[in-house]
Amino acid sequence: MDPSSTAYVICLVLMITICISANAQQNVFNVLSYGATGNGISDDSLAFMKAWKDTCGAGAGIPTMIIPNGKIFLVNPTTFTGPCKSSIINVKLSGTIVAPNGPDQWKAADLSTWLAFQDVNGLTIDGLGTMDGSGKGWWDRSCKLQPGLQGCIRLAPTVLKFDRCNNIHMSNIKFQNSPQTHVLVLGCQDVDFGFLTVQAPGTSPNTDGVHIQASRNVSIHNSQIGDGDDCISIGDFTSDINITNSNCGPGHGVSIGSLGKDGGEAQVKNINVRGVNFRGTTNGVRIKTWQTGRGVVENVSFSNINFTEVENPIIIDQFYCDHPNSCSKTTTGVHINGVLYSQLYGTSRTQVAINLNCSDNFPCTGITLENIQLASATRGGQLVSSCNNAIGVSRGIVEPKSCLPNII
Ligand SMILES: *[C@@H]1O[C@H](CO)[C@@H](O)[C@H](O)[C@H]1NC(C)=O
Ligand SMILES: *[C@@H]1O[C@H](CO)[C@@H](O)[C@H](O)[C@H]1NC(C)=O
Ligand SMILES: *[C@@H]1O[C@H](CO)[C@@H](O)[C@H](O)[C@H]1NC(C)=O
Ligand SMILES: *[C@@H]1O[C@H](CO)[C@@H](O)[C@H](O)[C@H]1NC(C)=O
Ligand SMILES: *[C@@H]1O[C@H](CO)[C@@H](O)[C@H](O)[C@H]1NC(C)=O
Repeated sequence: MDPSSTAYVICLVLMITICISANAQQNVFNVLSYGATGNGISDDSLAFMKAWKDTCGAGAGIPTMIIPNGKIFLVNPTTFTGPCKSSIINVKLSGTIVAPNGPDQWKAADLSTWLAFQDVNGLTIDGLGTMDGSGKGWWDRSCKLQPGLQGCIRLAPTVLKFDRCNNIHMSNIKFQNSPQTHVLVLGCQDVDFGFLTVQAPGTSPNTDGVHIQASRNVSIHNSQIGDGDDCISIGDFTSDINITNSNCGPGHGVSIGSLGKDGGEAQVKNINVRGVNFRGTTNGVRIKTWQTGRGVVENVSFSNINFTEVENPIIIDQFYCDHPNSCSKTTTGVHINGVLYSQLYGTSRTQVAINLNCSDNFPCTGITLENIQLASATRGGQLVSSCNNAIGVSRGIVEPKSCLPNII
């Protein structure tokens, strides 16, 4: 090789190197480069907004917003809006993001949400990081816990909301101490959440783990959820939801509903809850609807579930009501059709371990109880199953004795 061609090759290699590093630079947006301090005290919101703006506006590669490990970022209520230029966006959350400390530090007029992604498609959030909602200051003034308290708080922020986002993946993130709901999925499609942790005290008010509303094709798997309300709740206008291989407790269990509040219409179908352990929860698998509701819940399956000292392991409550004015008898009701309970084992803390309490106007239909063995959590305690307006069959072993007719 003559010296000039050697120089040419070196030159080429250099150019490629420069090109690659420029490309990497263009696609990685670290909040520290935008002025975030990560000291847990200064407000890092502006740095987050700027880093997001560049991430969302980047075209090539996989634009990645970095929130680095080993730091705590105080962020005020922020919405990360799309649509973004790239069809794939990555938020690498390795550090901790912490919310303002209680209602007195809250600087936004909107109390409903702390962090939100809106109209963002193809988002992946991963990185072993934490979102901490600093909920205690809100719980201390909750109307639910202190109904008489002047200026008590009814609506407190959700930690993370996905609003009209499609194709969302989130894994290995820890959520803790939300003022209210931890994660809200609203108007989204194609959502996959895995290996999440949700942690709040069992006594914290309305701190649901994940609430899904008006969304389809959602999977939540391999997650550990313990809080003061439903581990997962499934609201109106939802379909194709899988909840698998997860643990729930403390909390109120996995709940479909409450549906049909204030005469609202329920459209819920193809719900699959499989391989879940409930420990010390108030409910296990629950469907709850308001008497004033309309619409249908259909094709629901609860299978391979263990209950340990659960108050109401299996419950359908079509008489749900938490304020007396809207609980009068009506001619409406949500029709529940096609619910399979299969391979459910464990212990119940109340006597009515299987409680199918269905609407007088629209009986539940297509209920199947199959291979269920529940024992009392109290030594020597006796359990029963109870059916009210429930139509269906039982198969295999059902203990306590099934209130639905057995077929072979
Ligand atoms: C459901 O969502 C997943 C992403 O979580 C996607 O891969 C899959 O194609 C979607 N299925 C349908 C039927 O839309
Ligand atoms: C839910 O599970 C069913 C059966 O295993 C599967 O066909 C379906 O694709 C899954 N849907 C989601 C959203 O994961
Ligand atoms: C019922 O839901 C399951 C997923 O949970 C789905 O695979 C199945 O196709 C649904 N059945 C009907 C009749 O829609
Ligand atoms: C339920 O408990 C049984 C027996 O201890 C175990 O084999 C099974 O894997 C457990 N199910 C889940 C969903 O963890
Ligand atoms: C069914 O619901 C009605 C109305 O809330 C309630 O009075 C009744 O005790 C419930 N039945 C069972 C077995 O829980």
